Amino acid sequence: MAGPPQSTPSVLIARRLLPAGRERLAAECEIREGGLDAAPERLRELAPGVAAIVADPTVTVDGGLLDAAGERLQVVANFAVGYDGIDLESCRRRGVAVTNTPDVLTNATAELALALTLAAARRTTDAEADLRAGRWTGWDPGAHLGLELSGATFAVVGLGRIGRRYAELVRPAAGEILYVARRPKPDAERELRATRVKLEDALRRAHVVSLHAPATPETRNMIGSAELAAMRPEAVLINTARGSLVDSAALAAALREGGIASAGLDVYEDEPAVPAELLEAPRCVLLPHIGSATRRARDAMASMVADNVLAVLRGEEPPNRVV
Ligand code: 8YV
Repeated sequence: MAGPPQSTPSVLIARRLLPAGRERLAAECEIREGGLDAAPERLRELAPGVAAIVADPTVTVDGGLLDAAGERLQVVANFAVGYDGIDLESCRRRGVAVTNTPDVLTNATAELALALTLAAARRTTDAEADLRAGRWTGWDPGAHLGLELSGATFAVVGLGRIGRRYAELVRPAAGEILYVARRPKPDAERELRATRVKLEDALRRAHVVSLHAPATPETRNMIGSAELAAMRPEAVLINTARGSLVDSAALAAALREGGIASAGLDVYEDEPAVPAELLEAPRCVLLPHIGSATRRARDAMASMVADNVLAVLRGEEPPNRVV
């Protein structure tokens, strides 16, 4: 399907874009849509001649898709802040801009990390499951005992926008806040009374470890069996970043064997597949990647995608360029 050689540019929305962005694109562009189940072959069929591709981290934007789009392609606009599904080098080589949607999902994602922290610390999923299954036979002073967050030591791994907002949210309850980052963050140290430590110290000391690092080759399995073994037995691990950061088999083993107390996860390596060992693991709160799922955040993300696409198509600098 070669795009018509007219002035109306074509945009491939790989999966689905909410009306807050889609309607603005549709006013100026021809829209092609893959839909939520679009397979890579279907996207390659839809791509020829498009000027823009709207992707998200569940879509692989590789050389094959870029080649299928061809020379009219000017921008890959990611409907997410994390752009680990996009082959940045291939885009750079072809002179294709890449954009993302930072800031507008910071509060939503940090709030979900807080919700998971509370749920995992107090084991609310297990407790509710027991109630619903009729296993609650009376108040038991020893049942469902969890971790109290007031005065706890929190470790924030990756103090970018979302990590920092999470630290702000937990600050009123936290005793100490530790952070792990490639570079020191003097502002955060001052404003949040946060202390920069190495990952091994953070794991050894913290009651709550919350991951906020991007998925890169360096962060792959940054939490594996050795790291889990270094954590306190009463500790809680939270991951709202990317599934590849955590070795899920090692995490399931640590939960089964009491190496750590509980975990709260929103992301998985091969979504939407959730590793069976995690589904079966005790004291593990599992959510279906809803970090940015507030109406406000998703509408703002969709609108930002439109801003980025339309800027590039007008020959202007997109507001959120990654490449
Ligand atoms: C998206 C996210 O909802 O922004 C990100 O990086 O993970 C979420 O905001 C998700 O990626 C959509 O697939």
